[in-house]
Amino acid sequence: MRSLSVSAFLWLSLLAPTALGLAPAGPWDAFNFAPKSKTVYPASIREQEGTVTNSQRLVNNAGSATLNGQGTYVTLDFGVEVGGLISMNLDSVVPTSSLALSFTESPMFIRPTASDDSSFPSANTTYDTVLPVPAPLTTGLWTQPAFSLRGGFRFLTIVLTSAEGAVTLSNVSCAISFMPHVDDLRAYTGYFFAEDPGFHDENFLTKIWMAGAYTVQTNTVAVNTGRQVPFEPAGHWANNATLGIAGPIIVDGAKRDRAVWPGDMGIAVPTQFVSTNDLIPTRNALGTMLGNINPITGALPESGPPLSQLGSDTYHCWTLIGTHNYYLYSGDLAWVQNIWSNYTKAVAFLEAKVDPKVGLMNVTGLRDWARLGQGGFNAEANAILYHVLTTAASLATAMSLPDLAAAWTQNATALKTNYNAAYWVPELGMYRDNMTTTLTPQDANSLAVLFNVTNSTEQAVSISAGLEKNWGEFGPVAPELPGTITPFISGFELQAHFVAGNASRAMDLLHREWGYILYTNLSVQSTLIEGFTANGSIWYRSFDGYNFDPAYTSHAHGWSSGPTSALTIYVLGLSVTGVQGSEWLFSPNIAGLPHAEGGFETPLGWFGASWTASTQGSTTTFNANVDVPTGTSGVFVVPRELQGSGRLSVSVDGRKTAMADDGSVSLAGGTHTVLVAQD
Ligand SMILES: *[C@@H]1O[C@H](CO)[C@@H](O)[C@H](O)[C@H]1NC(C)=O
Ligand SMILES: *[C@@H]1O[C@H](CO)[C@@H](O)[C@H](O)[C@H]1NC(C)=O
Ligand SMILES: *[C@@H]1O[C@H](CO)[C@@H](O)[C@H](O)[C@H]1NC(C)=O
Ligand SMILES: *[C@@H]1O[C@H](CO)[C@@H](O)[C@H](O)[C@H]1NC(C)=O
Ligand SMILES: *[C@@H]1O[C@H](CO)[C@@H](O)[C@H](O)[C@H]1NC(C)=O
Ligand SMILES: *[C@@H]1O[C@H](CO)[C@@H](O)[C@H](O)[C@H]1NC(C)=O
Ligand SMILES: *[C@@H]1O[C@H](CO)[C@@H](O)[C@H](O)[C@H]1NC(C)=O
Ligand SMILES: *[C@@H]1O[C@H](CO)[C@@H](O)[C@H](O)[C@H]1NC(C)=O
Ligand SMILES: *[C@@H]1O[C@H](CO)[C@@H](O)[C@H](O)[C@H]1NC(C)=O
Ligand SMILES: *[C@@H]1O[C@H](CO)[C@@H](O)[C@H](O)[C@H]1NC(C)=O
Ligand SMILES: *[C@@H]1O[C@H](CO)[C@@H](O)[C@H](O)[C@H]1NC(C)=O
Ligand SMILES: *[C@@H]1O[C@H](CO)[C@@H](O)[C@H](O)[C@H]1NC(C)=O
Repeated sequence: MRSLSVSAFLWLSLLAPTALGLAPAGPWDAFNFAPKSKTVYPASIREQEGTVTNSQRLVNNAGSATLNGQGTYVTLDFGVEVGGLISMNLDSVVPTSSLALSFTESPMFIRPTASDDSSFPSANTTYDTVLPVPAPLTTGLWTQPAFSLRGGFRFLTIVLTSAEGAVTLSNVSCAISFMPHVDDLRAYTGYFFAEDPGFHDENFLTKIWMAGAYTVQTNTVAVNTGRQVPFEPAGHWANNATLGIAGPIIVDGAKRDRAVWPGDMGIAVPTQFVSTNDLIPTRNALGTMLGNINPITGALPESGPPLSQLGSDTYHCWTLIGTHNYYLYSGDLAWVQNIWSNYTKAVAFLEAKVDPKVGLMNVTGLRDWARLGQGGFNAEANAILYHVLTTAASLATAMSLPDLAAAWTQNATALKTNYNAAYWVPELGMYRDNMTTTLTPQDANSLAVLFNVTNSTEQAVSISAGLEKNWGEFGPVAPELPGTITPFISGFELQAHFVAGNASRAMDLLHREWGYILYTNLSVQSTLIEGFTANGSIWYRSFDGYNFDPAYTSHAHGWSSGPTSALTIYVLGLSVTGVQGSEWLFSPNIAGLPHAEGGFETPLGWFGASWTASTQGSTTTFNANVDVPTGTSGVFVVPRELQGSGRLSVSVDGRKTAMADDGSVSLAGGTHTVLVAQD
């Protein structure tokens, strides 16, 4: 797709959002990873061993294949991450014949004797083993029992486990189990499209946006398909546990944990909003967390049932932040009213942990995203608490409780002052982890910029530069979890570089880390891995809870989808700042790109934009179109790359318009053209 046809789409897409509230069709659809049908067939044969006849016929349901001889197997590749129940026709069998199925996300664990791990991490990598299809087999359609669902895999191995007799089979398929409430998995309400001349794959940005969207879809599941707790004994798995108050519900990962984790939702839900606007799974997840509040202490659980992990002050915060996100996107005030007494109790739980002398929260619920050193006056937790208080104030305003809003705002302001006094280390130009260390963590520094705990632009700029010092070949190695690259925290770092005004650094991070994640052949090249090590291996958290089991790592984790919302919010430039987008911001970053376009849907309608940046000699001309619902109001901000670059003229709808010192121009809803030219 070259610029000529792109400019044709530029107008088409602005003028023709579909009547059904779906995103317009266009070249971006070619990069959507979601299958066209909820019944998927193998896309290719990955490998085979022993006597397999006509294995190719299993591709796309083209006919029958025969396995003969004990241990003979065929490995089918679905082409992308999938999840669901396998069916196949057994065309001919002998009564003593038996089969087994093994599943894996990473191709590193293709083997006839074991799946990758989902029940429990074990250094032998073979905790889960196989699903037996025991003798006596009968001919006809066989379907995997529901309890044995594998929620995430790309490769399926079928092995003949009996010595006598061949088995002929056909019609091998997977009935996709995620997004149980939706027939057309590709019916997105949003899109993003930009060609990236600075990268080896010019469609990388569109693909990574889509990969994040698809990852969150694979994490959206039926309420009775959670991982069983207590974990199944070695050799087994079961995904028939109940996950919450209602389904569909959003969980952390496709293969595992298959439980609600509110921290993960801090990244996954913005992805969901800009791609499918399918927020019911989020409401069900938040309702589950708020419903499980401890009635005496006001503590929220760290994860949903049946895991029901307790004791995390940061994840407690994330449920409250998620509550605000859900309201901001949906405008569902009736739901906020319903959970309000539990919500306020949960905020009070945090406020009671604020030490009156120090003015910061003393973290006693130490569990967190896997970082080390949580506890006491921790900087990451206090940055998150600041965001809880500012968003709580805005919810209190929505609830018509101005006094409460003012009280929370006042406490947020005090926390911000205390934060800067306690953690800022001028010599390092960053925040430290707590008052007795010089470690400058990736999480607190990224979140402090993103949540505006910084009290000056200079601090944000300095932090952005400081964070880059952690980068290796594949991304930032988190000081607070040595040897580890965490796409969850990197998703916040990515946004922080944009907020700090360095889009080129943000793009470098995107290329470096998510470029690795999307293309590495150790993963699934369609959904996003939960974490990895500094050298790119998938031994994530080996020494920190995962028992040196790389087969346990999830390759479809919504918390790794930070680029999806970041591309929409900071590159395309469109975001909602008022409920349902009643107020919005259009603040694009050129980021070295000639063109970007996209948009999303809210209950108020379509929010779309499209821009081109063309440079001739030393002058750049920036042309944008924005199309948002009438009756809303917003602000356009001149791309940072053009600000401070000499005299600028801004025209809106063909009329010269004055911009404020910060490069902003107020706009009413509707359709506008904006031209920024360097004189
Ligand atoms: C990944 O690619 C490398 C280089 O081509 C190859 O050596 C390796 O076997 C591949 N790994 C897997 C799991 O396919
Ligand atoms: C793998 O380790 C688990 C314990 O974590 C054990 O129960 C299981 O038997 C082991 N599997 C094999 C094949 O040794
Ligand atoms: C889940 O499946 C296992 C294995 O079949 C079974 O023992 C258990 O009763 C099932 N649990 C539920 C809640 O259905
Ligand atoms: C093929 O499998 C599907 C399930 O994916 C089943 O509905 C269908 O009946 C099977 N076809 C035949 C011919 O048995
Ligand atoms: C609020 O918390 C109580 C427990 O204190 C629980 O019984 C109730 O269902 C919760 N309300 C909502 C709407 O989740
Ligand atoms: C934090 O609270 C715990 C539990 O109340 C207490 O033991 C600890 O001393 C406090 N930490 C600090 C730094 O005040
Ligand atoms: C302070 O931070 C360091 C570095 O993360 C950590 O090792 C230490 O345990 C923390 N102190 C407390 C009291 O949690
Ligand atoms: C504000 O902070 C003070 C002091 O920590 C606390 O007593 C008060 O409850 C907080 N207010 C609210 C509304 O949480
Ligand atoms: C930033 O925070 C520090 C520490 O509280 C304070 O001394 C300083 O005045 C603040 N700066 C601004 C611009 O608010
Ligand atoms: C950041 O906080 C300061 C007050 O500390 C406020 O003036 C400013 O508007 C905030 N910035 C944003 C983007 O919210
Ligand atoms: C942005 O980051 C790059 C490094 O990625 C750096 O060279 C450049 O100076 C930064 N620009 C600004 C304006 O800070
Ligand atoms: C990569 O790092 C992991 C964990 O630190 C280590 O176990 C592994 O040996 C390293 N691999 C290579 C190829 O260096």
